[in-house]
Amino acid sequence: MRAYEIIKKKRDGNKLSDQEIRFAVDAFVKGTIPDYQMAALLMAVFLKGMDEQETFWLTDAMRLSGDQVELKGISGFTVDKHSTGGVGDKTSLVLGPVLAALGLRVAKLSGRGLGHTGGTIDKLESIEGFSCNLSSEDFVRNVNSIGVAIIGQTPTLVPADKKIYALRDVTATVDSIPLIAASIMSKKLAVQNKALVLDVKVGSGAFMKTLGDARELARMMVKIGKQAGRQVSAVLSNMDEPLGRMIGNALEVKEAIETLRGKGPADLIALVKALAQEALLLSENRRIPQDEAAKRVDRVIANGAAFDVFVAMVKAQGGDPAMVEHPERLPTATKVIPVTSDRAGHVERIECEEVGLAAMMLGAGRETKDSIINPAVGFRLMKKVGDIVAAGDVLAEVHVDPSRENERGTQRLKDAYRISEKLVKALPLILDIVS
Ligand code: URA
Repeated sequence: MRAYEIIKKKRDGNKLSDQEIRFAVDAFVKGTIPDYQMAALLMAVFLKGMDEQETFWLTDAMRLSGDQVELKGISGFTVDKHSTGGVGDKTSLVLGPVLAALGLRVAKLSGRGLGHTGGTIDKLESIEGFSCNLSSEDFVRNVNSIGVAIIGQTPTLVPADKKIYALRDVTATVDSIPLIAASIMSKKLAVQNKALVLDVKVGSGAFMKTLGDARELARMMVKIGKQAGRQVSAVLSNMDEPLGRMIGNALEVKEAIETLRGKGPADLIALVKALAQEALLLSENRRIPQDEAAKRVDRVIANGAAFDVFVAMVKAQGGDPAMVEHPERLPTATKVIPVTSDRAGHVERIECEEVGLAAMMLGAGRETKDSIINPAVGFRLMKKVGDIVAAGDVLAEVHVDPSRENERGTQRLKDAYRISEKLVKALPLILDIVS
């Protein structure tokens, strides 16, 4: 088999076989297919697409490029959750402990920030000492004893995705539905959970900008999971404005802690409840009515069980539990700049990707792969879509490191706000469920 023929076949819009896809992935990981040929193949896939069967074969070939994380030693129903990436998305920090407190076993694989979107590992690392580098034995032991543990991708877990993603990132082939589906699902399926709940983000701050594309991605990922013998359900949620009010690593951990203490923002709590409802559906094999799922979530937050799980998880993974008990000890910016509105009206839009990019410019995300994150910086949004604003009102606080240049990031956040004279409704949060 030759890479040239495989590239040509896809370039001409034909379906690749299982053998051809496996050959391309294996040879690229081994280094016998060079970057330029893989880049050409990825561009051909970007332009001509892949059907569900091809995408499954690609996912499977990528999954098998490295280690599989065995979870047989865990007693109970094992579940993972994945977000396709958003701004202010600290949902996993709340949902993991909530599901564990509800009796599920959460063996979670998390990632770092990608582009303008944040990553769970970067957020958790703002807690002094916290590490996602657990051995497989510790991972299984922690899930058994605490109910939740979080690991990060290692060089031996789906190395094909690491290598392919690095090429996609520099060849404008990231935003392809089959390539995203295969990238996400190859990593998720390498950890052998029984079930997976997906949060597919839709809107200006998401990789999928339209509901149609998000539905296609969700359907593809659900089908891939089912073909691999897993139970999968996807919630499509709105990312046309940031989730909650905090953006930035330590700020998001603080907001997650407030939520676990029963004082979280309404949109974050609603999303946690919607995802918990799907996880309960998969574990109990029946659709739990929305109000019953919500009551169960409210109960484990009100009685402190979910918060206690979070503290135990942080401690078990080397983090300082005092920072969770006393979140004011988390890294905190030494300077806060208020951004005010020049006019009166209603918040019509908050350009969500712009907010993510502005946060990155302050140091909350990586502009290059070697950038060092400052956990303390970010935004606190005082106004969200639908809110009334008077001229001079504070729209947001900008938490900065005064030793950096912060003007451009601050201005970018201000420019992300659109104030309109007409009445604006708050945005709907849950857009669809695919299961
Ligand atoms: N997240 C991933 O892990 N992979 C993608 O391709 C996009 C988002």
